[in-house]
Amino acid sequence: MTSSTTLTNHSAPNMKSDIPPSVFTLRHTAQLEALYTIIRDKNTSRGDFIFYSDRIIRLLVEEGLNHLPVVPKVVETPTGAKYEGVRFEGKICGVSILRAGEAMEQGLREVCRSVRIGKILIQRDEETTRPKLFYSKLPQDIAQRYVLLLDPMLATGGSAMKAVEVIMEHGVPEDRIIFINLVSSPQGLRTFATRYPSLKVVTGWIDEGLNERAYIVPGLGDFGERRYCA
Ligand code: URA
Repeated sequence: MTSSTTLTNHSAPNMKSDIPPSVFTLRHTAQLEALYTIIRDKNTSRGDFIFYSDRIIRLLVEEGLNHLPVVPKVVETPTGAKYEGVRFEGKICGVSILRAGEAMEQGLREVCRSVRIGKILIQRDEETTRPKLFYSKLPQDIAQRYVLLLDPMLATGGSAMKAVEVIMEHGVPEDRIIFINLVSSPQGLRTFATRYPSLKVVTGWIDEGLNERAYIVPGLGDFGERRYCA
């Protein structure tokens, strides 16, 4: 069991010291570790996997929103007093990487009502073995928005980097994209953050590494299978 009182990055127990500063993890409380223990357990039922991964997704979305800029806003409270607060500046949208990223859409909608969400499908090109774009449908005004990019597992980083390439081709600057995922590998994070140093990554947990099939270890297996297949 691990615990930490710091909110930002570099608190994971197995975190390598050279994880880039653009990477942020959730605070590793006992509660968060208990949620991860449930979703990592191969004997967890599909229903519980959905329920507990949704709880983590919600925390991740809230943490992702912490990286958006705010401007001062003064309101009057029912007591007649003034409160000097803030409000979010700018508009946001989500983009999910199909199919597993779709599982994070509801968590984003619960936190940001009526949020627009685009979709990107990337698969391995069997000829080149490189990630290839198969489909994308993005909000038409995406260039004016901050983008929360959703994909639960950051393994090699290949799909996520391709997705960022597509989003940037639609006019979104790198530093307006926040990539949110549940579990990441140190090597995937390094590759990704080296290519896109001003893009913030919010990850729930940084695991030990990848196995020979490019699955994250200890990981949780195939997120899409566990979420969508009984
Ligand atoms: N995608 C998954 O679903 N799991 C992994 O471990 C890696 C990529």
